[in-house]
Amino acid sequence: MGTAAEIEAEFAARPWAGVTEAEMAAGLAVPSMLRPEESRLYHWLGRRVTGNGAVVDLGAYAGGSAARLLSGLERTDWAGRLHAYDHFRSSRRFWEKFLPNDPLPDHDEADILPIARRHLARWADRVEWHRGEIAETRWTGGAVEILAVDAAKGAAVADHVAAEFFPALVPGRSVVVQQDYLIAVQPWLCAQMVHLRDCFLPLALVPKDCVVFLCLRRPTAGELQAARTFDLTDGQLMHGVRAAAKWHAYMIGRERFQAMLAQIKANPGARLGWQMRQAERARQG
Ligand SMILES: C[S@@+](CC[C@H](N)C(=O)[O-])C[C@H]1O[C@@H](n2cnc3c(N)ncnc32)[C@H](O)[C@@H]1O
Repeated sequence: MGTAAEIEAEFAARPWAGVTEAEMAAGLAVPSMLRPEESRLYHWLGRRVTGNGAVVDLGAYAGGSAARLLSGLERTDWAGRLHAYDHFRSSRRFWEKFLPNDPLPDHDEADILPIARRHLARWADRVEWHRGEIAETRWTGGAVEILAVDAAKGAAVADHVAAEFFPALVPGRSVVVQQDYLIAVQPWLCAQMVHLRDCFLPLALVPKDCVVFLCLRRPTAGELQAARTFDLTDGQLMHGVRAAAKWHAYMIGRERFQAMLAQIKANPGARLGWQMRQAERARQG
């Protein structure tokens, strides 16, 4: 497993770059919104799992991220389960883009759970499905080896994810993949993580927006409460973003955090990514 410093050095060498398409073919066969380097990362993260805890995919869509994790996990002795969470509904726009081989439905919010199940059929006995609102789920599944977060599109969900899942991380071993960490319209993620910086070691930025963390120790209930972002004022949220910029200065350019600050300024009180995006589109006319 290694010390935190050894794990940091392991990630600094970016070994996922060496994963071949042939090795992860089963994962790549499933459509995903992930970029090529992210796909390699997910497969490699699955491959390096040593414990038998759960792997959690928050925001599974049609199963692409889960498939990449599983194609790596199947190369190990891992005896755990992958838990896939989502509403499992798709807009027509996303369906057309990501599921072009399935007949386009005539309405938005179309059910994609049957498609996701079909995509992960190879690993059916290893997957547990959780359809619904992540902000309403409770985690009772024990230790989590990998927590992939691609659904914290609002501050309230991000707070809930931290409260429910972070206490299940194994210090010195579990990793958190914050898929949207550097997206300008989700500034609560870095405000949250910087508040918990005693508990997490940033390991890698995988372009464009994904940052991986090692859990150093489990946050206490008090720390999780103090790291909540939903009730922050805009000023407090901006303070968090500036603190994160300092924390990550050696790894992430300041312009990423400046873009977040600009979004907060332009969208007072907004705590949902789509609200910020919508306002930006309106401003652009
Ligand atoms: C960017 S997509 C995930 C892409 C996926 N990981 C892949 O590999 O293609 C984000 C997903 O998160 C889900 N999601 C966002 N917020 C959610 C919430 N609060 N509860 C449940 N699912 C949510 C959406 O339904 C969507 O499928």
